[in-house]
Order: sequence, then structure tokens, then C-alpha cells
Amino acid sequence: MIELNYENCLSSKIGSQGISREKLGSLEETARKHLEKIKEKKPGFMQLPLRFKEAEKIKKEAEDYKKFKNFVVIGIGGSALGNITLQSALNDYFYNYKKNNPYPRFFVLDNVDPHWTKSLSDLIDPSDTLFNVITKSGSTAETLANFFYFLKQLKDSTENWRDNLVITTGKKGFLKRFSSENGIKTYPVPENVGGRYSVLSEVGLFPAACCGIDTVKLLEGAVDAMENEHVPVLYAALQYYFYKNKGKNINVFMPYSKRLESAADWFRQLWAESLGKNQNTGPTPVKAVGTTDQHSQIQLYMEGPNDKTVSFLEVFERNPEMKIDYPDHFLGGKSLRELFNAECKGTREALTRAKRPNMTFEIPKIDAYNIGELLYQLQASCVISGRMMGIDPFNQPGVELGKRLAYEIMGKEE
Ligand code: PA5
Repeated sequence: MIELNYENCLSSKIGSQGISREKLGSLEETARKHLEKIKEKKPGFMQLPLRFKEAEKIKKEAEDYKKFKNFVVIGIGGSALGNITLQSALNDYFYNYKKNNPYPRFFVLDNVDPHWTKSLSDLIDPSDTLFNVITKSGSTAETLANFFYFLKQLKDSTENWRDNLVITTGKKGFLKRFSSENGIKTYPVPENVGGRYSVLSEVGLFPAACCGIDTVKLLEGAVDAMENEHVPVLYAALQYYFYKNKGKNINVFMPYSKRLESAADWFRQLWAESLGKNQNTGPTPVKAVGTTDQHSQIQLYMEGPNDKTVSFLEVFERNPEMKIDYPDHFLGGKSLRELFNAECKGTREALTRAKRPNMTFEIPKIDAYNIGELLYQLQASCVISGRMMGIDPFNQPGVELGKRLAYEIMGKEE
């Protein structure tokens, strides 16, 4: 199980910047009550871990798509970030470059920078590519624009273009109509699941299954997180306390793992879109990656304003070890793994001595089970935090205006 180590948040460690055990205990109780109320409403994301039948079906169907040379997700926000997270955590870092990879190369197009779209289009042969267009609303402009671009390429390259498309979408919207009219293979986005809570639905499971990720294990991990609510409750209580009482307006999310770098992007969206509400609420999530950002951000976290909590992610089982073979140096005979762990410990201890509250998600190892567990824990924490802050963590009204103005510029009529 993933645990949350909060020792370095306690006042016994960091004095007046910290929290007492008694206060934490009472906030955990409050958080737990909020969680009970949340569960009564049966939010969609809390049902996802139980959908083993659907996951098995997707896994089976994915077999038909492994023949493609490339798998391109076209989507943005919650329709993209979960997929990038799963891929980078659970497949080899240079997965796309591997020789004799039995699975398709994997790309996610979550921007309309024309240079990027063109680069991808120059790289792939559309007839050899599966395009998985993912959009819950079915009408997000960036997603549709990239889709239209590749649809034309696809139609120009093969008569059987329909076989190269899988659409993952909600009940309404342009893409739902398009897929029905053209007989395209379609997966649903469950109605009551918003983008940033959708990674364990068809949105994340289908691409993951096509790239060899064990999607059933992902759900098993999430089920365990559901049954052991301790970590989400604790994390929400700590985050609430430091935000409301200690002026920690910034939540730095810092995996000590290159494989979890994208999980920090995913977390940033989850925290920002869910908690930034009502003109006055919302800690700012910041991404940092150990050890890289020790040489970029830590100076600020150590000596800048004491307005942050740092949430570390530490992985216990790291493979391979990678011995350093250089006898006349203090690093000789040690390993990259030892250095990585030492850097993580050193940074944590330094922040603690500087009276900066920090906590650590202790992850036994990176595999599908633990990633399923982690993502569910973070989603549940986010929703509990939102309820404690008195806001709705499921909507995102602030995104609408900018979108509407951009669509007007592009000539869309009301
Ligand atoms: O979390 C969310 O709801 C958003 O980030 C959406 O995922 C994003 O705006 C994309 O929306 P859609 O899936 O409808 O294209």
C-alpha cells in the first residue's frame, strides 16, 4: 500500500509552521465526514475502479489494434494528461524507439501548435496509425481541429479509413454524431465522470491496453485505495490545514522519479481546475521533479517565502540499481539508485530544518497496481479538500469565457 509520511509537517519537527497531532486528528475526522457525504452522492469517478467487466472487454478488444504501427491520442486536458501519465509511468522511457516493440508507438496530440501537428504528420503514415479521438463534450475545438486535419490525411491514404479511428466521447456533441453516421468504433465517457477524473474510464484504459499496460491491475490498485481511505483523508486534512491556517498557498508536487514526471502534470490539472474557484479559493499546484529541480527550484523552496507545502513522491523499489564503477571517487562502488535516494532524503531533511512543511507519498514500486492506487488516492484527496474548502471540485466555469471568446474570433455563431 502507498502510505503518506507526514512527520515533517508536525510542530514537533518544524515548530510554529507545523501542525499538532491533536489538530491533525480532529481535521482528519472532519475530512472523513466530508468523504462519507461525498460517497452518498456516488460521484462517477468513485464507481470507475469497480468496472472490471468493462476493463476486461477493453483489454480483449485492444488486441485488434496492436497491429498498428502508431497509436495517436487526439485530446486535451483530462482527455490527454491521464494517458500521458500512464504511458510514461508504466512503459519504458524510450518506448517509442524500442526495436521489435510488439505494441504501437504512442503519441498524444494535446495542442494545436501547427509545428507539432505537422511534425507528427511528417513522422507517421496515417494508414498505419490508429487515431483515438478523445473528448467528453465531443466538441472541443483543439481536438476537432487536429482530428479534421488527420481525417483528411487518413481519407487520402486509405479507403478503409474508418478502421483507423476509435472515438471516445460522451452522449452528445459533434463527434458522437460523426461516429454514429460513419459507423466508427466508439467508447463512451461515463456521463457523470469529468475529464480530470476520467483516467480509469475508457479514456485511459483503451490506450493503455493497446500499449501493453495491465489495465485490470490499475483498477485493482484503485479498488484498494477506495477500501483504505486513510491516505486521501490524511492528505486532504494536511493540505486544508496548511492552506487555511499557515498561508501555504502553493502545493509543490515533487516526484523523485522521472517516470512520475507526467503524473505531476496530471496532478497540476486536477488540483488547479478542481480547487481554483469562486474568485478566492485554491492553492496553486506547482510541478517539480527530483533530482532535476533541486538545481532549479530548491533554492526558492528553502529560502524564499514560506508559503508552500512540498509533497514528495518516493519510490522504494527502484530497478535497475546501476552501479557506478569508478574507484577513486566517493561515488565509486555506489549506485545511481543510492544517489537518487540520498538526494531525496537530503532535500527532505534540508526543508525540514528550514521549517518548511513537507510530506511524502511512499510508493513501494512503480507498477500498474500502485499507479492505479496513487491516482485514485489523489483524486479522492482533491474532492475531499474541495468540500472542506466549501467549493465544487467537479466543475470548471472559469475555463468557459476564454474558450467562448476564441471561438467568436474563429467565427463561431452562438
Ligand atoms: O477536466 C476537464 O473536464 C477538462 O480539462 C476537459 O478534460 C478538457 O477541457 C477537454 O474536454 P473534452 O474532453 O470535452 O474535450
